[in-house]
Amino acid sequence: EQPQDLTGLRLLITAGRNNEPIDPVRFVTNRSTGKMGYALAEAAVKRGAQVTLVTGPSELAPPAGVTAIKVQTGLEMHDAVMAHVAAQDVIIGAAAVADYRPKLRHEQKLKKKDGPLVIEFERNPDILLEVGKQKRADQVLVGFAAETEQVLENARGKLERKHADLFVANDVSQTGAGFGTDTNIVTLVDRAGDTPLPLLSKREVADKILDRVLELRTREAGP
Ligand code: C5P
Repeated sequence: EQPQDLTGLRLLITAGRNNEPIDPVRFVTNRSTGKMGYALAEAAVKRGAQVTLVTGPSELAPPAGVTAIKVQTGLEMHDAVMAHVAAQDVIIGAAAVADYRPKLRHEQKLKKKDGPLVIEFERNPDILLEVGKQKRADQVLVGFAAETEQVLENARGKLERKHADLFVANDVSQTGAGFGTDTNIVTLVDRAGDTPLPLLSKREVADKILDRVLELRTREAGP
């Protein structure tokens, strides 16, 4: 009884975190589990979409019917997205992409020394920003903004700066929202305004996002 309202649509979803290596045995990462991105992939496939899931390391199994591309670093995630973006109708950036990577990736395990260790970091590419710059008019681009303050203002700023069509704003300081939880409290931010949603499961949030993506596609197509 699931409506097949995404039939024929191609969606690319990024999910999870990145591991940015320091040496062969150490890396820098963050708390993203991939739950939101995987929930989106599952919801989209159930509604008939063709889904490519570009995922960083996650404990979760890719949902059945999804084409999963597994990556580790932000650069690998960038390259996988760029290789597939042209074929997509919808691109959703749910990954907590590493903003920085250690400048040096040591070939051998670093040895302990007296005194502090300084690790220099350099910026990773902003995947969503790059996709936004080259986006076609028929493509819908969705980003996530995990914030702890000025949530809506920050999300709207990112919507404009990254040329996205929709941002999902997420106050990660609230209980029941953000990293690792099965629920989320989000506000949909697009050019028509803000739509606050109640506390929902990530799967329910996923369906709300996909509903809005469909509306945006209809709006773009015009009367
Ligand atoms: O600027 P900020 O990192 O808060 O933006 C979050 C959004 O941008 C998310 O959709 C995230 O997936 C995406 N992003 C990205 N590449 C980065 C950083 C963030 O695609 N390097």
